[in-house]
Formats: sequence, structure tokens, C-alpha cells
Amino acid sequence: MIERSNQESIEKLKGVILAGGLGSRLEPLTRIINKHLLPIWNKPMICYPLMTLVEAGIKDIMIVTGGNNAGDFLKLLGNGKEFGLKHLYYTYQKEEKGIADALSYAEDFAKDSRIVVILGDNIIEEPIKKYIKRFLKQPKGARILIKKVDNPQRFGVLQLKGKKIISIEEKPKKPKSNYIVTGIYMYDKDVFDIIKNLKPSRRNELEITDVNNVYLNNGLLEYDILDGFWTDCGTFESLLRANNLIADKYYKKR
Ligand code: DAU
Repeated sequence: MIERSNQESIEKLKGVILAGGLGSRLEPLTRIINKHLLPIWNKPMICYPLMTLVEAGIKDIMIVTGGNNAGDFLKLLGNGKEFGLKHLYYTYQKEEKGIADALSYAEDFAKDSRIVVILGDNIIEEPIKKYIKRFLKQPKGARILIKKVDNPQRFGVLQLKGKKIISIEEKPKKPKSNYIVTGIYMYDKDVFDIIKNLKPSRRNELEITDVNNVYLNNGLLEYDILDGFWTDCGTFESLLRANNLIADKYYKKR
């Protein structure tokens, strides 16, 4: 009975996959192909975050794309039928102005629903449904999934006091812990007003870390430690790692 009512609520959430940006760290691979269409083992990258949201029980999903080959997403994914969806929504980020800017394009789609956001280059091993269920129990606010890594300076890094988050710093030279924020975020409808009030960072982007810090400072940010492997695909090393992790998972299952 409880499972059923949670499932109904998950269906009311909207999913957003952010697949804009230029993928400049993967030049020249990304000169003629959008990063999220590059292969990860036996599928284009974008299929993995899409499967993550579908497996979690989310039915309404929007892909925010941008840069090169935006039309190729349609060719590849169509209306999402292969993934068990009735429909798939798309929008186009005009300029590469950051992750929070990309998310702002999903405001009309989200209407007043709560949203689960995943970066188009984040590859994970385990289902995220249990974290979404915990988010649904929150009356409001945001929830992030964090992970311990060896190279935190490349990510949004947590400063922790015991189990409490004190702050999140984007790509700090001297990380205050090895815990980083993965590219999976859950937000209430306030996120869009928060984005409207953001100022561009030093690299001239609207940073998702700034969004998360607003929730944190308002006492409205919860977190879980993500089970299983996690990687992004933004560099040659991480792209290779993603391929190896997914190939190992594939062979383990057979
Ligand atoms: O993967 C987790 C990390 O992602 C977090 O720990 C960081 O806090 C967060 O800033 C982000 O860092 P990256 O440097 O890896 O972000 P990147 O610029 O590579 O963008 C990641 C994805 O976000 C990309 O695959 C598509 C989407 N994106 C990015 C930008 C800059 C957009 O849709 N539009 C954009 O303008």
C-alpha cells in the first residue's frame, strides 16, 4: 500500500536531463558530435541518464540540449517509446551559460511540479528510486546525491562537520573533503526563482552549486550518499572510465 502511494507520487514528478554545453574538454571528439551522443559501451551516453529516470518511475521527461547536433537527439530517441515512454520533451539552450541556466529552460515544462534533474554525462550503477522516495517525504526544499572520490577538485565539493553540510565549493583548489555533489539533484518549484536571482560566476556561468548553496543557507538541503559506482564523462579519463564501468556491469550480468 505504501509502495503504491509512493509510486503514484513519483509519477507526478518531472524529470529533466541537461545535455547542453560544448564538451570542450573532449575536443576534438566533440567538434562534430555532441558530447552526450558519444558512445558509452554499447549505447550513446544520453541513454544512460534517460534509463536512470525511467527506471525510477518518472514518466514526464524533458531533455535540454544545445550546441551541435541538437536534431540528432530526436533521431536517436524520438518520443522515447523504446524506453517505455509515451512522449519525450525537448528544449534548446541558446548559449552555454551553465548548468543552472540550462535548467531554467525547463520552467514551463515543470509548471509547479517538483523535479528530478540529472546531468546528461552522469553514469551510475544503482537505481535512484529510494532517494526519490525520501525526497517525496520532504515537505519542501532540495535533495542532492553525494559521492566520495579521489579527485574532488574537479567537482562541487562539500565541507562537512560530522554529517552536516557547512558549504559547497565549486572546483576548489584545496578541497575541504573528498565528498562531491554528483549531477543528480531534486528540487521543489522554488528552484526557478532561485536561478532568476543568481549572478554569473567567475567563469561566466550560472552555477548549480550556487543554487544548492541557497537551499543550504535556508536549511532546506538534504542529501544521500549514492550507492554503486558513479562517474561523469567530461574528460578523456572519465569517458574511458565510464566505458569500462558499463562494460564490466554488462559482462557481470551475463
Ligand atoms: O558531474 C558532477 C559535477 O557537474 C558537479 O560536481 C559540479 O558541481 C557541477 O558544476 C558539474 O561540473 P562539470 O564541470 O562537470 O560540469 P560541465 O560543465 O561538464 O557540465 C556537465 C553537464 O551539464 C553537461 O554534460 C551538460 C550540462 N550543461 C552544462 C553547461 C555548462 C548544460 O546543459 N549546459 C551548460 O551550459
